[in-house]
Amino acid sequence: MAALPRSVETADVDGRVVLVRSDLNVPLEDGRVADDTRIRASLPTIRLLLERGAREVRVCSHLGRPKTDEDKARYAMTPVRDRVAELVSDVRVTVLENTRFNAGETKNDPEFARELAEGCDVYVNDAFGSAHRAHSSTVGVARLLPAYAGVLLLDELRNLGTLLGDVERPYVIVSGGAKVEDKVGVLQNLGGRADEVLIGGKMAEEVRQENPFSFDVVLPTDVVAAAAFDADAETRVTRFDDLPNGWLGLDVGPETRTDFGARIRAAKTVFWNGPMGVFEWPRFAEGTYEIARALADCDGFTVVGGGDSVRAVQEAGIADRISWISTGGGASLELLEGKELPGVAAIPAA
Ligand code: 3PG
Ligand code: MG
Repeated sequence: MAALPRSVETADVDGRVVLVRSDLNVPLEDGRVADDTRIRASLPTIRLLLERGAREVRVCSHLGRPKTDEDKARYAMTPVRDRVAELVSDVRVTVLENTRFNAGETKNDPEFARELAEGCDVYVNDAFGSAHRAHSSTVGVARLLPAYAGVLLLDELRNLGTLLGDVERPYVIVSGGAKVEDKVGVLQNLGGRADEVLIGGKMAEEVRQENPFSFDVVLPTDVVAAAAFDADAETRVTRFDDLPNGWLGLDVGPETRTDFGARIRAAKTVFWNGPMGVFEWPRFAEGTYEIARALADCDGFTVVGGGDSVRAVQEAGIADRISWISTGGGASLELLEGKELPGVAAIPAA
């Protein structure tokens, strides 16, 4: 892996105005923050700056993908700002309005970058989840102010970076989800380094028909088949390669769960991305939850990345037994694909 970017720990922020780019792009429900994981993950950097005497900490982030004027009401920062204020009560902290309300943001417009940098002395990028975007707030400002990496950004790079290096073995990769094309890059880059690549979810069907990888994979042996794509559909457990005509495999079967679970529990390094089935529906959630439990039981180094698997880990109630849960979706995949993240590359190396 490339050298790490220089840390906020090395920045002199005493008496300075610091612009912090966090990833506060959180799910909203009824105008409130539905999951504050990313907000809480952004606090260590904010607290560090306050402790080190920053005069002002201006936190900025995008929220959603606003396009129309109506979206401006829907994606206003207010609920996020309120949650931040509940978690850190310090008058020196302000949360700026959604960076994507400015059309220049996603074009990495230098004019908007200047606007953000205005009146600031130091820039800290802590937005790992947005580090794969070359936008004004993630890249443009890094050219205008002395730039440093935040605590979360560095933790993500170190933990995910471990998966690309000399790992303890057995090294097991578990992948799932609907589309194999979303995972090809990551699996191509990581799969060859792993001892076992376990594949579930709908993408297992595609891989069974034609393995696009240059290595062998472990596929399910049985599935929970459903007569229709419906939470209440008639179900039966069948062999993976013997689905009745017109039926759909909506979860991995009990034999597969035992097999995948045992391989994961015996591993020393595990990376999991993507559910084993339609786990939003309780009758098809068991395979995905069993993967989560197996990672929890595994006493090796375990990493979970990607929104759906992170949610499954939380729903299974075992999040605190996972070594690292990434706050990045696309960013973690691009990093593990071996791509350079523009938000990281814009910060001078340590
Ligand atoms: C994410 O949620 O993946 C990041 O915040 C990036 O958001 P984006 O995909 O809208 O750029
Ligand atoms: Mg564990």
